[in-house]
Amino acid sequence: MRGMMLAGGAGTRLFPLSRVSSKQLQPVYDKPMIYYPLATLMNAGIREIHLISTPHDLPVFREVLGDGHQWGVDLSYGAQPEPGGIAQAVVIGENFIQSEPFTLVLGDNIFHGPIGLGREVANHDGGAVIWGYPVDDPQRYGVIEFDEFGAVLSIEEKPDDPRSHLAVPGLYVYDGTAVVRAKDLKPSARGELEITDLNLSFLNDGELRAVELERNITWLDSGTHESLLDSSNFIAAIEKRQGYKVACLEEVAFNMGFVSGDEIAHTIEAMPRSPYRSYCERAILG
Ligand code: G1P
Repeated sequence: MRGMMLAGGAGTRLFPLSRVSSKQLQPVYDKPMIYYPLATLMNAGIREIHLISTPHDLPVFREVLGDGHQWGVDLSYGAQPEPGGIAQAVVIGENFIQSEPFTLVLGDNIFHGPIGLGREVANHDGGAVIWGYPVDDPQRYGVIEFDEFGAVLSIEEKPDDPRSHLAVPGLYVYDGTAVVRAKDLKPSARGELEITDLNLSFLNDGELRAVELERNITWLDSGTHESLLDSSNFIAAIEKRQGYKVACLEEVAFNMGFVSGDEIAHTIEAMPRSPYRSYCERAILG
């Protein structure tokens, strides 16, 4: 299955940090934010990946991530000139998607723990799959409501009066119909093609499945100063405690069998002397 990452948007809530770089390139502890959603896709076995960002930020993403060969993935890029919404990115990705199923992950969403994306990707047989995750402040997100049998009753984008405390994380698996469905959407009050409306289109046709993420999984978004700091603190705490890095792309690539031992050794040799390189040497080369 293919994967798409969306790293657009003006990131204005992070001003003046947003003047330095795109939101999705800001540091989350010891790595650029985009490493985390990229690791999420790679850990699910996804190797053909399209990143969509603004024309202004794309050159930096290309510089930081390249064509992905160092991690055994094929990275391509697409431009979203105006912040027209997440569903607009699906339309922009049409040539990449080629009417095939794909996973979409938002560039500011960090997942830690066994989310089971690999299983969903391997078993996907049409329709859309989304997740629900308990949060304290659901009004900041898309909110999903289940009935007692696990069927989806409603999905609402940033409701004032949420019907549940389950937010919809920025991770979606779609079949190829997502592009035509996204093209049919009308802009919302904030002038965007809403991903929630795309999900509703699948729901209305009985083509949406939603999975509740267990509490033992951590989902963070990093779009505000506070959540960015929370994410950094969370990653720092885990890495210091375990001695393992989260979303070390070289380690993920090697563990997934995307690159050989020789290839990754070569990549590591080219890194500047740094704690990151020492970690790669220890964790991968042994
Ligand atoms: C977007 C989606 C929302 C989702 C959230 C996850 O919100 O519109 O449904 O819950 O991402 O991060 P936005 O980042 O546009 O505020």
